[in-house]
Amino acid sequence: MTLRRMATAGLLAAVVAASTGGITASAGGPRPPATQDQSLRGLAARHGLSFGTAVDPAAYADPADPQYKTFVDKQFSTVTAENAMKWESLEPTRGTYNWAAADAFVAMAEKNHQLVRGHVLVWYSQLPGWLSTGIQDGTIDGPQLRALLKKHITDVATHFRGKIWQWDVVNEAVSDPWETPSAIHLGGNAGSLKQKFADLLGPDYLADAFRWARAADAKALLFYNDYNIDAFGDGGPGDKTQFVYNMVKKLRSQGVPIDGVGSQGHLATQYGNYDVFQVADTLQRFTDLDLAVAMTEVDARSLMKDAKDPTQDAASADLTARDQASAYNYHVLLQACLMNRHCLSFTVWGFTDKHSWIPTWFTNPPEGAGCLWDANYQPKKSLRTVQGDLAAAGPPLVLPRIPQRPRR
Ligand code: XIL
Repeated sequence: MTLRRMATAGLLAAVVAASTGGITASAGGPRPPATQDQSLRGLAARHGLSFGTAVDPAAYADPADPQYKTFVDKQFSTVTAENAMKWESLEPTRGTYNWAAADAFVAMAEKNHQLVRGHVLVWYSQLPGWLSTGIQDGTIDGPQLRALLKKHITDVATHFRGKIWQWDVVNEAVSDPWETPSAIHLGGNAGSLKQKFADLLGPDYLADAFRWARAADAKALLFYNDYNIDAFGDGGPGDKTQFVYNMVKKLRSQGVPIDGVGSQGHLATQYGNYDVFQVADTLQRFTDLDLAVAMTEVDARSLMKDAKDPTQDAASADLTARDQASAYNYHVLLQACLMNRHCLSFTVWGFTDKHSWIPTWFTNPPEGAGCLWDANYQPKKSLRTVQGDLAAAGPPLVLPRIPQRPRR
C-alpha cells in the first residue's frame, strides 16, 4: 500500500469511527461490537435519528421480568407512554389529576437520557368514563366539551412543560374508508363516540387544540398523529392520507402552530406491503409543507391461525413467511424515514411479543407476532432487518436529521 493510500485508509477509518459513535475499528485494536449486538439507539444515532418504543410501566417495574426494563433502558433513545398520559389515566375522576404514573415515566426517561413523545392530548378514545358518558348521553354539550378540552390541554401541557420533545396534540381525528358515510371526514361512523366528539367540537377544534398546546408549551414539537396515512391512494374521497394532507396544509396556511405529522405505522402482513418509494413520497409531501414527520407506533402483525383450518395454530412454514413479511414492513417504513432528513424519530409500539397490544386488540381473527423481539426476548427477522438497515444507511441518500424548530 502506498503512503498516500494508507493515509486515505487512515482518514476513512477515522470517519467510520466518528460516524459509529466513537467505536474504533483499527487493525489489531478493539473491534466494534457486531452490528446485531449494537443497540438500536446507537445504530440510529449515526443518522441523528431517535429510535423509540412505547412503554408499559407495569412491565417496566415487574421484578419477575427484568429484561423488559433492561431493553427499554438500553435499546431506545425516545419513549412514549403506552397509556399513562391518556386522559383516562390522568384524570379518572373529574377535577382530580393523578400524575404519579406519568411523572414516574418521565423521570425514567430523564434517567436514561431518552426524549419523550407525549401521547396524547386530544383523542376520542380512552377518555375517562365521566367524560365519555357525558358525551354519549348528551349531558355534556359542545361549549362544555370545548371548555373541558381547553382546560385539559392547558393543564397537561403545562404540567409537563420542558419535558416533552414531541406532543401528539390530536390523535386519530379522521374517519376510515370503511366507515359510514364512506367519504373521509372528521369523525367516524355515524352515531359513534368518535363522531359525537367531532360534532360537539366542530371543525375548528384542531386549530384551537394546537394553539392551546402552544400557549402552554412554547418548545415542544406539536404533532397531528394518525394511522393508515403511510401512503397516498387515488386522491379521491376515500383517500385518508390525502384528507390528512389537505387538513394539515390548511392548518399551516392558517398559521396554526403545527410542527409535524406522526404516521403510526400499524401494519399487518395479510394486507400486502407498501413499497419504500410510496412511503418516502408520502413523507416527502408532508415535509414539503415545512412539517417534520415521525413514525410513531410501528408494528407489523400477522394472522396467527392456519388459513386452511382456523381451528389450528399456523404451521411453522406459515409463521416463517409471516415473520419475513413483517420484517419487510419494518424495512419499508424505516428506509423511507431514513431517507427523509425531517423524519425525526422511529418509534415501535412495544418491542417484544410478550408485551404487545396486538393479541388483546385484534382477536377475531387472532393476530400477533408484530414486534422486533419474540415473547422470549429473542431477536426476530424484523429486528435483524432493522439493525441491518440502520447499519447500511449513509450518504448520499441517508443524511443526518435536520432539527425542527417549534412554530409560534
Ligand atoms: C393502545 C394501547 O397499546 C393499549 O394498551 C390500549 O388498551 C389501547 O390503546 N393508536 C394509538 C395508541 O394512538 O394510543 C393505541 O394504544 C394503539 C393505536
